[in-house]
Amino acid sequence: MTGITVRVPAKLNLQLAVGPPRADGYHDLVTVFHAVSLFDQVTVEPAGRDEVTVAGEGADRVPAGQDNLAMRAVAALRAAARNRKTSPGSVHVTIAKRIPVAAGLAGGSADAAAALVACNELWATGLTQRRLREIAATVGSDVAFALLGGTAVGRGRGEQLTPALAPTTRYHWVLAFADGQLSTPAVYAALDRLRSAQEGIVPPGATLDAALMSALRSGDAAQVGQRLSNDLQPAAVSLFPALRKTLAAGLELGTLGALVAGSGPTCVFLAANAERALELAVSLSGAGVCRSVARVSGPVPGAAVVSAG
Ligand code: C5P
Repeated sequence: MTGITVRVPAKLNLQLAVGPPRADGYHDLVTVFHAVSLFDQVTVEPAGRDEVTVAGEGADRVPAGQDNLAMRAVAALRAAARNRKTSPGSVHVTIAKRIPVAAGLAGGSADAAAALVACNELWATGLTQRRLREIAATVGSDVAFALLGGTAVGRGRGEQLTPALAPTTRYHWVLAFADGQLSTPAVYAALDRLRSAQEGIVPPGATLDAALMSALRSGDAAQVGQRLSNDLQPAAVSLFPALRKTLAAGLELGTLGALVAGSGPTCVFLAANAERALELAVSLSGAGVCRSVARVSGPVPGAAVVSAG
């Protein structure tokens, strides 16, 4: 076998409800993940030693050594597979990036999930999907969802997943990529600071938005647009004030809903259909309120092998 290539999607959070910080530094959350048609591609090939090459969107900002999340996934899978009747040899991992780096779209987690799927195939580990998801969760909070795809409720750190039973509605999104990045830990820390500054306000435990789930079950895009929510948004905007303008511009141009993607700084707009998404994308890029735009749709499946040979 020469190599395995896996395609893996970016994610949005249609709801991101964040609870108080836990003793381990993470936050318990309730989130509605939604995988969209912006894909990275990861290829693994047998090699003399573990190596990673990154090309494409923001490649120069992706760590190229063992700190790379995909390489951590490779190491975690190798450790889990070692006692089985397989020989998990060294691999060269090539990451072709289209998902912007540190943009709130879980691109690094996506690459880790893709590396897991690819190495699992290459090494024929025989591990179950459930075990693979457990390994994914040790690598990062969003990695298990990148394996699953579709639309799913995430709890705990985001790694405990329940697929949402939703109809086959396609949602059309416009992503506005910012000229800059945000660090996820910095955004969570800013949220904690904002909350502790609001005297006496103890953040409630995070709860699932029943109205959003009901809108998703009935495939009602207008309702979904109204229920989009992200507790991290005020924190992201406080660290990246230009996002206020981007969100306002999208809302003025007429969208069903707008929010910051995950920990940002990408902004996300829901359009009523593919034509409206195209109009919105053109107007937003003309308005000069972001670095570039992309039209995507969702839900799409999680990490999947596209070629093996
Ligand atoms: O799990 P992951 O490495 O993707 O998380 C990155 C950072 O985001 C964590 O170190 C933590 O600061 C923050 N985080 C959090 N609560 C979560 C998920 C992430 O505080 N549920």
